Formats: sequence, C-alpha cells, structure tokens
Amino acid sequence: MVRKLGVIGYGKMGSALVNGAIKAGVLSAEMTGVYELSPERQVAAQKAGLSLLSDLGELQNYDSILLATKPKEIPKILDRLKWCMVEGKAHYISIAAGIKINTYLSRLGQNARVTRVMPNIAASVNQAASVYIHSKAVTKADREFVSSFLKGVGMAISIEEESLIDTITGISGSGPAYFFLLMDIMVKAGVDAGIPEDLARTLVSQTCLGAGSMARESSDRLVDLIRAVASPGGTTEEALKVMESRGISKIIYDAIVAAIEKSKKMNYS
Ligand SMILES: NC(=O)c1ccc[n+]([C@@H]2O[C@H](COP(=O)([O-])OP(=O)(O)OC[C@H]3O[C@@H](n4cnc5c(N)ncnc54)[C@H](OP(=O)(O)O)[C@@H]3O)[C@@H](O)[C@H]2O)c1
Repeated sequence: MVRKLGVIGYGKMGSALVNGAIKAGVLSAEMTGVYELSPERQVAAQKAGLSLLSDLGELQNYDSILLATKPKEIPKILDRLKWCMVEGKAHYISIAAGIKINTYLSRLGQNARVTRVMPNIAASVNQAASVYIHSKAVTKADREFVSSFLKGVGMAISIEEESLIDTITGISGSGPAYFFLLMDIMVKAGVDAGIPEDLARTLVSQTCLGAGSMARESSDRLVDLIRAVASPGGTTEEALKVMESRGISKIIYDAIVAAIEKSKKMNYS
C-alpha cells in the first residue's frame, strides 16, 4: 500500500530511505513531501521529484511522517508538531538514535501513533537491515505501511523489546561504517602493492558482498567459515596471525560496546 509520506530531514538517512522506497515502488515521489532546512538538501529533494514543504503545518496533509533529523533536533520538532498538527491524525515514524517511544508520547500525547525504526544507510541500495517497534495506538494500516516501506528498502524485523534498539544501533545501524573502514584498509593495501584503485575497490566490494551472502545463507558457524578460507600454513592464516597478535578482535568488540553505550546514554527527552 502506498501512502502520503511527509519527511522531516532529507539528509543521508532520510534520502536513502525515501529514494530506496521509491525505487522499490512502495512509495510514490508525487505523494512524498519534504520539510528540510538545508538549501542543498532541498535542491536534492526537488531533483528527486519530491514536493518541498515550507512549513511543518503542511504535514497535516500526510498520512505518515518520517522524522529523519539528528536526534538533538527531535524534541523541538515534536513540540512544534504538537502545536500545528491535529492530534491523532498522523502516524509518526522515527529513525532517530537514542530517542525512546515514551519521549514521542510525552510530547505528542499518550495515544500518539509512533513507530521507532533503526535502519541503516544501505537502504539507498535496497539492502538495509532494519528493526522496528510500534507504540500501542498504531493501527493495522500503519503497521502494513511500515512493513512494506521497510521491506522495500531491505530486510526488516519487528521487535517487541525497545531496549534492544541500543544494541542494534551499535551493530547494524552503525555497522556499514565498520565494513567500509575494513574495505578502505583492504583497498589501500592493494593499491600500495600495485593494483589500480578501481580494480582493488571492485574486488574488495565483491568480496564483502560474497562474504555477507555466505554468512547469511550458510548454516556453518562464522568461525568455521573463517577456517574454510584459512588453510594451515597459507596466506589467510598469516594475515589472521598478524591481526590477532595486535588484538583486532578485542579492538572491534570494544568499539561496538562503545557504540552501544553511546546509544544508551543519548538522552534527548
Ligand atoms: N546516517 C546513518 O547511517 C544512520 C543510521 C541509522 C539511523 N540514523 C538516524 O537518522 C537520523 C538522520 O541522520 P543523518 O545521518 O541522515 O543526518 P543528516 O545527514 O544530518 O540529515 C539530517 C537533515 O535534517 C536537516 N535538518 C536539521 N534540522 C532540521 C529541522 N528542524 N527541520 C528539517 N530538517 C532539519 C539537516 O539540515 P542541516 O544539515 O542544515 O542541519 C540535514 O539535511 C538521525 O537521527 C540518526 O540517528 C542515521
């Protein structure tokens, strides 16, 4: 089902979701309106065929409203929405890290229809990993829209426990950046050893895609998949020895814990 979607913040994540959903046919550009402060991003929205809104009050005409600004902007936006929207008319979908459903309810009203989503940037290529959770008042039609919208931009899983979102933020919300970092290092190593950069990037990207597909499709444990590549005395084993001697597992583990803790501490109520 295609709905009228109003978008507040057409930045990296807002545009990734909207453009991915339009590409997937679960959203129509003509039925999507954007309220955005950055002139550059306004131009990008217009180029994508979306309507530009000049006032938050115009969101009154939309069925669902996607909140896609930085978390610190959300409380003041909610206060303005509370003032300019008819209570209970719209359904809100927020992707802001660290802001709990209760914050939306306390600012918009206890019966507000709110869906909290943690997507990732791969929505831009319809490969996002998203989780979502609804407030009590969300209707069947809202649920169907969220499900089709998020499945259009990748994989989407409904969760029952909101506290999981902090952990998920540190794993799959931030996750693409961890892989981009590893890929960047792999490309640099290839280039320094004489491979043209575009060839190195192509090979590394395809390797990441292939490893991801194997991890998703195979029932083997990940340590067994590592063993399948690292034959004794071989090149992979040599690389893994260097990585482990420098503590790579602990570094990555601690980094992800830091991201999770940051999400828990974010408090913009
Ligand atoms: N990036 C990710 O990979 C990712 C992943 C999962 C979740 N998220 C969540 O997605 C949200 C957006 O992140 P992002 O990375 O897309 O940020 P972003 O690129 O900075 O996009 C936010 C956009 O909103 C605009 N904006 C700021 N205040 C506004 C207001 N009051 N009304 C309308 N537009 C406003 C910003 O304009 P200015 O630049 O002029 O301020 C910017 O263009 C965050 O809450 C984040 O937690 C992001």
